[in-house]
Amino acid sequence: MTRRPPLLEVQDLSVRYPAARRFPWWKSRSNAAVDHVSFDIAPGETLGLVGESGSGKSTVGRAILGLQRISAGTIRCDDVHITDAGRKVPRSYRRRVQAVFQDPYGSLNPTMIVADLVGEPLALHTDLPRSTRTERVVELLEMVGLRSRHLSRHPYQFSGGQQQRIAIARALALEPALIILDEPVSSLDVSIQSQVINVLEQVQAKTGVSYLFIAHDLAVVRHISARIAVMYRGRIVEEGEADRVCEKPEHPYSQLLLSSILNVDLRDQAQRRAYRHELAASFRRQEPTVDQ
Ligand SMILES: Nc1ncnc2c1ncn2[C@@H]1O[C@H](COP(=O)(O)OP(=O)(O)OP(=O)(O)O)[C@@H](O)[C@H]1O
Ligand SMILES: [Mg+2]
Repeated sequence: MTRRPPLLEVQDLSVRYPAARRFPWWKSRSNAAVDHVSFDIAPGETLGLVGESGSGKSTVGRAILGLQRISAGTIRCDDVHITDAGRKVPRSYRRRVQAVFQDPYGSLNPTMIVADLVGEPLALHTDLPRSTRTERVVELLEMVGLRSRHLSRHPYQFSGGQQQRIAIARALALEPALIILDEPVSSLDVSIQSQVINVLEQVQAKTGVSYLFIAHDLAVVRHISARIAVMYRGRIVEEGEADRVCEKPEHPYSQLLLSSILNVDLRDQAQRRAYRHELAASFRRQEPTVDQ
C-alpha cells in the first residue's frame, strides 16, 4: 500500500535533560532522554509508540506538542517547523496538534461542567456564538458516545472511561490534524480500554485525524496502529507494519516486550527479568553516556 505524504515528520530528534550535579565544580552533564529519533505519520494514520517506562515516549510526545525544549533535530507538521530550543510554537500549530493524556480526571478541571470543558477551546480560539458552540459540543459528545444530557455534569459524575471520552471530545473541538495520545487507556479497566479504543477508531474514520498512540503495552497498540515504533533507552530500535512487528519482531528488545504480553509463570518471569538485565547491560556496554 502506498502511503500518503506525511503530515508529521520527526527527523533526528534529540532531547537532553540536565543531569543533577553533585558539586558546582563538576562538569555539567546531560542525559539524552530522546536520542536521534526519526519517524513520520501520514494523514489519517496511527503510529504506535511503545517501550518500557523511561524509554522516552512521553518526551517525544511533549516535543511534538511544543511543550518540550528540543536539543537537536526537527519536527514538521503541515508546513510548520519546530526546530531550535525555546522558540514559541505558533498558535495555529497548537490548534492542529492536540493531546489526550493518561489520567482523564487530572486533565479535566473538576469545577467545570462538560459543556464548558468541551466548548472551552472553541471559546478561546474561535468567535462562534454561544449557541453554535453548544451545537458543536453536542456533536462532539455524540462522536465519542456521550449525550446532550451530560452537558451540565461535572467530571466526577462520570466513570474513568467516560471521562476519557470527554477528554477526547475536548481534543477534537478545534478539528486537529494530529492527536498525541499518551497512554490514553492505561489507567482504565481492560474491558473499558477496548471501548475507548473503538471510540478513537470511529473518530478517526469520521474525521481523518492522525494519532501518535503511546503505550507500554504492545497488545494495546497493535489493535489500533497501522505501524509501530519500538523505543528503548531513547532510541527507536525497530519500526514497521504493526502485524509484522508483533509477529516477527526483529530486535531482541521488541521480542522481550512481546513476551511480556503472554501469560507466563513466575519462573519464566524471573528468567525474563534476568534477560532484561542482560540486555540492558549489553546496551550500556555499547553506549557510554556522553558529556556535553
Ligand atoms: N523533566 C525532566 N527532567 C529530567 N529528566 C527527565 C524529565 N522528564 C523525563 N526525564 C527522564 O527522561 C527519560 C524519558 O522519560 P519519559 O517520561 O519520556 O519516558 P516514558 O517512556 O514516557 O516513560 P513512562 O512509560 O513511564 O511514561 C527518563 O529517563 C526520565 O527519567
Ligand atoms: Mg510517559
